[in-house]
Amino acid sequence: MNSIINHAVKILKKGNIIAFPTETVYGLGADAKKNEAILKIFKLKKRPTFNPLICHFKNINEVKKQVVFTKKAKILADKFWPGPLTLILKKRKNGNISNLASSGLDTLACRIPSNKIALKILNEFNGVIAAPSANLSSKLSSTSKKHVVKNFGRKIFIVDGGLTNYGIESTIVDLSKKIPIVLRPGAIKIENIQNIFPNLRLLNNKKNTISSPGQLKKHYCPSIPIRLNVKKVRKNEVLLNFGKNSLHSNIKELNLSENSDLDEAAKKFFEYLHKLDNEKYHSIAVAPIKNTGMGIAINDRLKRAASNE
Ligand code: TXA
Ligand code: MG
Repeated sequence: MNSIINHAVKILKKGNIIAFPTETVYGLGADAKKNEAILKIFKLKKRPTFNPLICHFKNINEVKKQVVFTKKAKILADKFWPGPLTLILKKRKNGNISNLASSGLDTLACRIPSNKIALKILNEFNGVIAAPSANLSSKLSSTSKKHVVKNFGRKIFIVDGGLTNYGIESTIVDLSKKIPIVLRPGAIKIENIQNIFPNLRLLNNKKNTISSPGQLKKHYCPSIPIRLNVKKVRKNEVLLNFGKNSLHSNIKELNLSENSDLDEAAKKFFEYLHKLDNEKYHSIAVAPIKNTGMGIAINDRLKRAASNE
């Protein structure tokens, strides 16, 4: 693994892109301080340049060089870093992250991942890695090397870390305003942050357009239609099931968790959607999934996957 990591770091230092595992999903990484490297990510992902990227750091000291690290930030970082929490913080004037990475905003999305391979790469690289999820814009996220290849072929060097641990992206909390706001539910459960900040708000998606441009209504889309909260599976549909029930597809069915375990369901979520996302099928029927704990993040992804807007 060490020689693979060294090779990945060489690629980053040259201003090129790698794909690497984190504990949430695979990321497409580039040197966050180089404009040309950041542009390559936007181009490869076909991502609109107004949708900013998350910066990945090796430790808190490095974060503090780029953003104003508030008391609230310290409380959340002490509890959840390294781990699947992204904090939106005000940029320092003397920071040196490419403005393209944050799409020209005065805030920066920061996180310290807990995945051992990601941390090794960050330590060897000794810099900041800007990394969106390793999928084409608006498509399904990647939780294994296979999914990254499906999106980008063999165009980029992929560090293989097997299936990711959480299977769903980091929770994003905006701390740049007076009241903390969850911009994206994710792998850290909202109730765990609410325990610390009871006034925590959830982003109102209807009103929001600019503050989290990535929270576009249409996202995480399979290439065939998807129908949610089904009571009955249609004749030509495949089924993404959850828990024990009487739903059944004659064509193909996968169960996210027969025991209705939402953490297990999150881990398998993108993996199973990739498996069912095949143009030889007509559409994907999805069973109702409890909207608590990790279910909140799963249902957020499902709603966007099914959106026609
Ligand atoms: O788990 C994760 O967060 C993964 C792994 C690779 O770290 N990354 C990820 O990145 O999900 P991406 O690019 O797919 O999603 C990042 C989200 C986008 O919705 C983007 O709009 C938002 O973060 N974002 C980035 N910078 C922001 C900022 N300054 N203010 C508000 N939202 C921001
Ligand atoms: Mg993404």
